[in-house]
Order: sequence, then structure tokens, then C-alpha cells
Amino acid sequence: MELLKQKILEQGVVVSDQVLLLDAILNEQVDPELTMEMGRAFAAIFKEEGITRVVTVESSGIAVAFATAYELGVPLVFARRKKTLLADPDSYVERVPSFTKGIVTDLVLSRKFLNAEDRVLFVDDIIANGDAAKGMIKIIERSGASLSGVGIVMEKCFQQGAKSLREQGIRVESLAKIASLEGGTVKFAE
Ligand code: G4P
Ligand code: NA
Ligand code: NA
Repeated sequence: MELLKQKILEQGVVVSDQVLLLDAILNEQVDPELTMEMGRAFAAIFKEEGITRVVTVESSGIAVAFATAYELGVPLVFARRKKTLLADPDSYVERVPSFTKGIVTDLVLSRKFLNAEDRVLFVDDIIANGDAAKGMIKIIERSGASLSGVGIVMEKCFQQGAKSLREQGIRVESLAKIASLEGGTVKFAE
């Protein structure tokens, strides 16, 4: 998506060979125009899939997942990230490590809002090692819903998350693919 690539080049900050800060458009501030366009892009890519729910993880996935759900005319459901102490029988819970935060958290999603009739599009802002995505996919599987695909704003191709999902046969569509951040420079794939 050209507008997204342009915004990444203008507003992204390379902080290491592994991490690109996108706080100006994704993580600390939301660009409404860009976000709605990303929603339209995902909706167009997955429009033939009969999606009934869009699923994401709080917090940074919510804006783009909302835009996508709005375009598809379906609800958005989001998992909370919690440090759970008690088992919660009303929710699906998956424990996942976090690449940037260096901690383990639980993804918690209410059983009320996902069921075996659903066809799910999982949308998220960034994929790195894919731990969050894998946790969400486990939750979707346990609900009996079918996963139609995964939509990612920024895929870091030099980490293994998206690749390993594709190897499992999951359709992963990314709006911007980063091949490398070496030398402080953003290089896009393709
Ligand atoms: P994964 O999705 O590939 O497993 O990555 P992981 O869960 O380990 O990432 C943890 C958090 O770090 C995620 O946000 C993810 O978006 C973020 N992250 C990973 N790589 C980058 C990067 O290069 N730049 C930025 N800005 N963030 C990165 P989160 O914990 O879900 O928090 P939130 O932003 O949704 O609140
Ligand atoms: Na994030
Ligand atoms: Na996220």
C-alpha cells in the first residue's frame, strides 16, 4: 500500500536492526485517514471470504481492525492482554511471550463473542516472531471458528512470524513488508 509505505518512510523511526517505531501512526497516535484506507484495503482483500467477525489484540491492533470490520460490516472482537492470576471459565486464555516487552502475558478473549459458526479475519498492527498471532490462532481454533486469514499492517520479513504462519497454510496478507532495517534504513520487500 503506497500511502502506508510513504508514512512509514516519513514517520517511522528505526531504533535497531530489529525494531521500527511507528508511534506516530500506530502505537501512540492514530492517523484516521490512513487507518480507514488500511481497513478498506483489508476488506477488499478478504471480501470473498464471508467473514463474520474481525479479531485483534489490544491495544494497537484495535484501530485498524475497527476500520476493517466497519468496511466488512461485521463486529470487531478484541483480546485483552492481562497478567491473569485466576482461571477464567468465561474466556479463552493463551499465554504468550512478547518480543518487545520481554514479558509473558495472557491473551484473554470472551467466549461470548466467538463461536463455531464464525469465519474470522485476524488483523494486527505488526508481526515480528508471531507469538501473539499464534496465541490468537489457538484461541480461534479452540472456539471452533474457522480462520479465513490474517491481515497485518507491517510485516517484518527478517523475523519468522509471518513465514511460519504461511508454512502452516494460513493466508497472511501484509500492507507493508519490511525486508531490512540495517544501517538505520527501511528497506521494503518487493
Ligand atoms: P509478535 O506479534 O510477532 O509475536 O510480536 P510480539 O507479540 O512479540 O510483539 C510484542 C509487541 O511488540 C506487540 O505489541 C508488537 O506489535 C510490538 N512490536 C514488535 N516488533 C515491533 C516493532 O518493530 N515496532 C513496534 N513499534 N512494535 C513492535 P503489543 O504488545 O501487542 O502492544 P500494543 O502495541 O498492541 O499495545
Ligand atoms: Na504493538
Ligand atoms: Na499489536
